[in-house]
Amino acid sequence: MSFRAQPTPIARPNRCQLFGPGSRPALFEKMAASAADVINLDLEDSVAPSDKDSARANIIAAIGAVNWGTKTLSVRINGLDTPYWYRDVVDLLEQSSDRLDQIMIPKVGCAADVYAVDALVTAIERAKGRTKPITFEVIIESAAGIAHVEEIAASSPRLVAMSLGAADFAASMGMQTTGIGGTQENYYMLQGGAKHWPDPWHWAQAAIVAACRTHGVLPVDGPFGDFSDDEGFLAQARRCATLGMVGKWAIHPKQIALANSVFTPSEAAVAEAREILAAMAEAKARGEGATVYKGRLVDIASIKQAEVIVKQSEMLAAS
Ligand code: COA
Ligand code: MG
Repeated sequence: MSFRAQPTPIARPNRCQLFGPGSRPALFEKMAASAADVINLDLEDSVAPSDKDSARANIIAAIGAVNWGTKTLSVRINGLDTPYWYRDVVDLLEQSSDRLDQIMIPKVGCAADVYAVDALVTAIERAKGRTKPITFEVIIESAAGIAHVEEIAASSPRLVAMSLGAADFAASMGMQTTGIGGTQENYYMLQGGAKHWPDPWHWAQAAIVAACRTHGVLPVDGPFGDFSDDEGFLAQARRCATLGMVGKWAIHPKQIALANSVFTPSEAAVAEAREILAAMAEAKARGEGATVYKGRLVDIASIKQAEVIVKQSEMLAAS
């Protein structure tokens, strides 16, 4: 065990991130009224090139005009490989009200990508006297992004969250699929003649969780494209929660309640975690480091596992 304590991520609800195109301002009030913890207004791939300027103007106006409540308000800028991104940053930082919390940087491939945006944001904050520092979230959605995931997680003190973007990731990796997340028909194992479908996204998600947890960043799963498939969404979200992710995107409002249900620890899970803590407190009073709870071993590591669930539940209750 390293002597360095693992950094604690920002304490904020991040169970569901709801996306909406900046070119559909009619959706903004509905997004604000939703049960999503984070709102992602999009300037990138859901906005056609001809609409980039108007979408930017729509978003800047809505940041100040719409009542976003206590939600985290984030804007996804265009990628650093486009001609749009610098204007996104300059106009957002110069013209939007300080209700803006966060910028999402897509298609990050290395730490220097984040450095570039950080330099620009920092200069504009100083020039404009903005007193609330903008936080960053990034999307890992390329071969370079996953290859450099750890340096990206460590790239800036502004960075608070990191998502896996399945569609661009699959394209960049040359994966034979047009699906956005979920089970892939041709990714199967054979056991006694029967097919079983492992999770092709698992390794990238696990790499993201490890990089994020090392550097105190929230790991989040990105879009599940088939919004008609509630069970498929739930299955993927449950796998992500089990792996250590704290939330998932919604690309349609019907996915919000699904995400919230998975990433809010259940009453049963919280009750069990508290029972484990109580059992370990009794063991400690007896001078023991391990004991038996419901027929299974619990020890000092179990305290940390239980505390993850209890702390998450308390943080959500307090927010
Ligand atoms: N946020 C809030 N409300 C939304 C919404 C969103 N992202 N998408 C749709 N709605 C609303 C609709 O306005 C409609 O409201 P109404 O009942 O008051 O009329 C209701 O939810 C049902 O919408 P529906 O007709 O099923 O969807 P649609 O055809 O209008 O839009 C999408 C479907 C997928 C195009 C749209 O949801 C969307 O643009 N999603 C986000 C895409 C995005 O941002 N992608 C980038 C990240 S991957
Ligand atoms: Mg993408």
